[in-house]
Parts: sequence; structure tokens; C-alpha cells
Amino acid sequence: SRSLNLAVIPGDGIGQEVVAEGLKVLSAVLPQDVKLETKEYDFGARRYHATGETLTDADLEALQQHDAILLGAIGDPSVPSGVLERGFLLKLRFAFDHHVNLRPSKLLPGVATPLAGQPEIDFVVVREGTEGPYTGNGGTIRKGTPHEVATEVSVNTAYGVERVVRDAFARAQARPRKKLTLVHKNNVLTFAGHLWTDIFNKVAEEYPEVTTEYIHVDAATIFLVTQPERFDVIVTDNLFGDIITDLAAAVSGGIGVAASGNINPSGDFPSMFEPVHGSAPDIAGQGKADPTATVLSVALLLRHLGYEAEAARIEEAVAADLGERGGLPARSTAQIGDALAGRVAG
Ligand code: IPM
Ligand code: MN
Repeated sequence: SRSLNLAVIPGDGIGQEVVAEGLKVLSAVLPQDVKLETKEYDFGARRYHATGETLTDADLEALQQHDAILLGAIGDPSVPSGVLERGFLLKLRFAFDHHVNLRPSKLLPGVATPLAGQPEIDFVVVREGTEGPYTGNGGTIRKGTPHEVATEVSVNTAYGVERVVRDAFARAQARPRKKLTLVHKNNVLTFAGHLWTDIFNKVAEEYPEVTTEYIHVDAATIFLVTQPERFDVIVTDNLFGDIITDLAAAVSGGIGVAASGNINPSGDFPSMFEPVHGSAPDIAGQGKADPTATVLSVALLLRHLGYEAEAARIEEAVAADLGERGGLPARSTAQIGDALAGRVAG
């Protein structure tokens, strides 16, 4: 019989609440013969305040034993900015080489968008996850003086760019529209931008069926609002990808439904799946958070592990639930989770 050995990191704020619903739906959708094992970890603000630790080598070793990781949200106002971001989330993405940060955007029927009309939105952003300005390659001199200088170097390696570009081409090839857009800023960032563009054009030769285009990141923010239907797969660097995926979430139903995967395609390390939203301390503990983004992240997790039919069932359940939502009274976090679990068990 099969087994799924999951590390669960509820984290802070609403992370606890949404992860509980994600697990509910996961249990409901898994076939009988799959033995689900979960182990919960207490990372986040609690662990930090109790021990001063964010993520130790021993923690990484423990996490590495799992097939995948489900994360709620990490972050709390009681912890100085940057401590958990760098010390936990980015540390984990880097340690497990999560170089494909996958962020799909799909505007489902009945879901409100701030955009005029009901545009067709169905694209996926492949955000590079281990390089760019996120590597911590920088420093400050003359700190605190009027002449302080701060650098934050964007690191781009041919190896790192090529592997994520290849992943994006493969995803584009597998989709009906077969279109891939490179988003960068090669008119100004001429070193990194040209590395990306050259590698993109080289790999494109191996994918004659994939239509390619290049768009500067500033223009991309316009098109994401004025012509979102233009996009199918987007590949971009870590920081541009961070920014445009928040915009993408905002136009396609909001961060309440935006899912993501931090993926190591080789399987050398477990991949981690998490809602794009944060810990939302302002509404934590009130049963107000929408667990849909976490439930959709569970679908990405299942697809990554080869449970395609189960992933599709979750996505269909979410589409059906969101389609009805306009006509439903406001529901709590647990009520939405129950409704989705009911539908996938169906
Ligand atoms: C995200 C977040 C993180 C990022 C932060 C919290 C480090 O904004 O997952 O998009 O910038 O990647
Ligand atoms: Mn972000």
C-alpha cells in the first residue's frame, strides 16, 4: 500500500486555522489505500520566542525525511521584520533548493475581480526561488551615517537560470496554449537581463511548438491588469516573481485563493506548499480566514507527488464552491473546509 508522509507547519496567525482545513480536505480526497502520516512542527514566532531558534540543522534533517511539507504562514508582529523571513522561510527554500516557485492564477467563474468584465485569467508564474536579490549577498558600510551605503546584489547563475527556464518551457509545452513569456528588465539590468534572455532564447530552440515572448516587468504589470488573457506561462526572477504574483493574485480572486509550491523538481529534497498569503494577525483566531488558498496548495502538493486525479478533484471542488459562494451566507474557515471536504469525498 502507498503512503504519504507529510510535514505540517501551521506557523503563525491564521496559518493554524487554514492548515487544519487543508488537512481535512487532504484526508477526504486520498484513496483508502494511501496511508497518510503527518508530523507537526512548531516553527514560527512561538518557537522563536521559546528558544530563539528559527530553523536548525537538526530541523532540516527531520524535515528532509518527509515526502512533502505543508506550510500555513510564518510571521508575527512580535518578531522583528526579517528574522523569520530570512531565518525560516528563505532558509528552508534555499536549503531544500526550491528553485521552482510555482504560482498559478486562475479566475474561476463567479469569483470577483477588480478588473472590468470577467477576463479569461489562467496562467502560471514560474518564479525562480533560490537566486536574485534574495541570496543575502550584500552589506552596509558607514551604517547610521548620512553616507551609509547599502548593497543587495542580485545573483544570477547560468545554472540557476537555465534550470528554471527549462522547467517553465516544459510546463508551457504541456499546456494547451503552449505560450511562455519571459519577464525581466533587460533594458536596464543588462547583465542579469541578458543572461536570462540568452538562455531563454537558446532553450526556446528545443521547443519549436512553444510560442515565446519577452516583456519588461514594468510593462508586464500593465498587461496583467489590461490583458491578463495574454499570459499562459510566465518565467521570471525571484524578486520580479514575488511582486507580479501578488498582483496576479489580486486580479484573480485575491490572496484568499492564491496557492503556491516551492518545488525541487529533482525530488532530492521535499517540496513545500503554502498559500501566498501571510499570517494575517489582525484576523487570527476568529475563524474568518479563507482556507481556499491552502486547500489549492494541497492540490499542488498532490499533483507534485503524482496524485493527479486527486489534485483535479480538489480544484473542481474549489471551482464549484466558489461558483456558489455569491449565493451562500458568509461562512467560517471551518465551514468552507467542511464544504470542500464534503465535495471531494463526494
Ligand atoms: C512570498 C513572501 C516571501 C517572499 C517573504 C515573506 C520572504 O512575500 O512568499 O511571496 O518574498 O518570497
Ligand atoms: Mn510575496
